[in-house]
Amino acid sequence: MKAFDDGLRGDAPGGGRYGEAVFPPGQAGEDERIDYGALAYDDVTMARLRALGAGPGWHCLDVGAGTGTVSRRLLAEAGVASVLAVDRDVRFLAERPAPGLDVLEADITAPGAVPGRFRLVHARFVLMHLPERERLIATLAEHVAPGGVLVLSDAVDLTSDRTPGTPYTAAMRAMWQGLRTTIGTDVSWVPSYPRLLREAGLVSVGAEIHVPALLPGSPISRFWADTWERSRAAMLATGLVDSAGVDAAVRYLDSDECAALSAGMLTAWGRRPGEA
Ligand SMILES: C[S@@+](CC[C@H](N)C(=O)[O-])C[C@H]1O[C@@H](n2cnc3c(N)ncnc32)[C@H](O)[C@@H]1O
Repeated sequence: MKAFDDGLRGDAPGGGRYGEAVFPPGQAGEDERIDYGALAYDDVTMARLRALGAGPGWHCLDVGAGTGTVSRRLLAEAGVASVLAVDRDVRFLAERPAPGLDVLEADITAPGAVPGRFRLVHARFVLMHLPERERLIATLAEHVAPGGVLVLSDAVDLTSDRTPGTPYTAAMRAMWQGLRTTIGTDVSWVPSYPRLLREAGLVSVGAEIHVPALLPGSPISRFWADTWERSRAAMLATGLVDSAGVDAAVRYLDSDECAALSAGMLTAWGRRPGEA
């Protein structure tokens, strides 16, 4: 394990980074919040990674691996040879070891943060939070071995101007704006991923979107409610919602009134030319 170098700052207007003022890993229950997202999306992620060929003999890199659900499923279900799980804070990965799982504590925005080339490079719900995302896509592409694949997944916001105002849409808009200001999160880039992968020299580029159903008590509904709770201060600071509005949005999510689209997960992939 390598010590995290936090000397780097992004371009969030507030100057903050993921895991500091918002989503600190030391805050009780942060691993559960990440796991709610994993419950909502892991099956879709695994189906795509397997369709792209992830299996025996593959050496994989999971960037911003969080609690490591995808890393461990790659080993246990897809039977890959190894996974290097990288995160700026590896406490959740260290708590759940698995044979073939190597853990590296590193800030992926730092030059030379990760050694080597891999058959699969995967980053889910990470680049959207990092202001350096455009440069990082090129860097991650360099970590793909010839014949290997880079797979990026991030959120797409489906609340448009035509979406009727509900507690849910008000909370979502405040959340995206609040995260943008405090830590530099920006999901407006995500639909550009296929083009950015192509510009990084990758071929056979593809993309798909999955939108989990917002049903009361579902993992994705619990994920959003918990995410709003943890980013409440950033949301209130936008002036787009007040505390009663956030509470109303949480109640709305848990009610039969709820009739809304979750943010979707866009997954985009591209291959490095050459023989594996
Ligand atoms: C929303 S979680 C996603 C976790 C996992 N990829 C998943 O989809 O379940 C984002 C993860 O990225 C990590 N992360 C954020 N910034 C990072 C950075 N600069 N370098 C490495 N990891 C980072 C966080 O610590 C966190 O574990």
